[in-house]
Amino acid sequence: MKVLLIGSGGREHALAWKIAQSPLLDALYAAPGNPGIADHARLVELNVEDHAAVIAFAKEKAIDFVVIGPEAPLVAGLADDLRAAGIATFGPSKAAAQLEGSKGFTKDLCARYDIPTGAYQRFKSAEPAKDYVRAQGAPIVIKADGLAAGKGVTVAMTEAEALAAINDCFDGAFGAAGAEVVVEAFLDGEEASFFCLSDGKTALALATAQDHKRVGDGDTGPNTGGMGAYSPAPVMTATMVERTMKEIIEPTISGMAKDGNPFSGVFFAGLMITAKGPELIEYNVRFGDPECQVLMMRLKSDLLPILYATATGTLDRVDAEWRDEAALTVVLASKGYPGAYDKNTPIAHIPEASEEAKVFHAGTALKGDRLVATGGRVLNVTALGKTVTEAQAHAYALADRVEWENGFCRRDIGWQAVAREKA
Ligand code: AMP
Ligand code: GLY
Repeated sequence: MKVLLIGSGGREHALAWKIAQSPLLDALYAAPGNPGIADHARLVELNVEDHAAVIAFAKEKAIDFVVIGPEAPLVAGLADDLRAAGIATFGPSKAAAQLEGSKGFTKDLCARYDIPTGAYQRFKSAEPAKDYVRAQGAPIVIKADGLAAGKGVTVAMTEAEALAAINDCFDGAFGAAGAEVVVEAFLDGEEASFFCLSDGKTALALATAQDHKRVGDGDTGPNTGGMGAYSPAPVMTATMVERTMKEIIEPTISGMAKDGNPFSGVFFAGLMITAKGPELIEYNVRFGDPECQVLMMRLKSDLLPILYATATGTLDRVDAEWRDEAALTVVLASKGYPGAYDKNTPIAHIPEASEEAKVFHAGTALKGDRLVATGGRVLNVTALGKTVTEAQAHAYALADRVEWENGFCRRDIGWQAVAREKA
């Protein structure tokens, strides 16, 4: 099979690494890819926003299958256009990608099909939103409706904070994403991420993960795209997984199909495990980054036929086997992230991979033959272990061998699970 992978982050490096191990693979291309992905794929300079150019490249190289990593091309309808051109594609349609692209869309779906989630209202202007907040009281959650790079959510512990967040949204702090606002009840519990494939009819549960969004140790400081993650998530017991499938995923699949937007691709469900059980915080319609890195490390099965079955409506014929070990990934970021940081700082050394550990590239580039850091989140040091404690020790031992002066990482990724394992 000839495969084209779209994307350039750590998530796509992990996907490329795993796809490259498939005996079914004849050739792997990545657009635009990164220097880590270049170990497994031929990099192609394609403007992914130019769908006609992507289709022309796929036809020229006789690509059998396109795998789309990030959300932006999905929300822009790249999967629709590729499928219309007769090319099998992993990733939801533009209509189905609204599950991630519009928080209001997802909340309305939950209301229609009785999917457990926090009570909410949608608003197109500030005053009625503020009245609602005053009536409900704090804590309360304010969300810009559209894609805001993970920054559009304020968990307001006071009414004043909530009112300020509403002003921010309508004052344009998140651009068009904030033209509509969702105000949502605060859910109290432990968060977990759940990954599940669907071909529009069938579901295949993958695995669970927990991430660390805050930049600082002890989950302090500003939010980021994620400073580390581990899998599995201890809070997602077999019973919780079963309830999530039945109460959240299955009604989503049947509801989306009924509404004329059948979902094909991966559900990345952000869950709050409350006293009542699993409740949906949000859906993403692509693998998490860096959650994907720990999932790929734990996946024993060949990834390629699983993704292809998802794209071609034959998910009922495949299965996914997982290692019993835990996997943990530590993000090395540029000093200053998520604020301003220097670009093009040199990375002198990245340690070799082994069966049990691998450094994925997220924000790197080659300047001549020198590897430099170009992004905020730059490397994902990922390792397996019998327990999260062991995976954590392996990951930090490897991270300490990376030679990059301008890099930093949190030192406590996995702390909740480690504390549980000690207890
Ligand atoms: P989101 O971008 O929707 O994932 O929200 C970012 C973060 O805000 C989540 O990971 C949660 O930690 C928090 N959050 C979002 N919605 C709620 C809610 N209804 N109750 C409590 N925390 C929430
Ligand atoms: N790590 C969170 C995300 O990929 O959205």
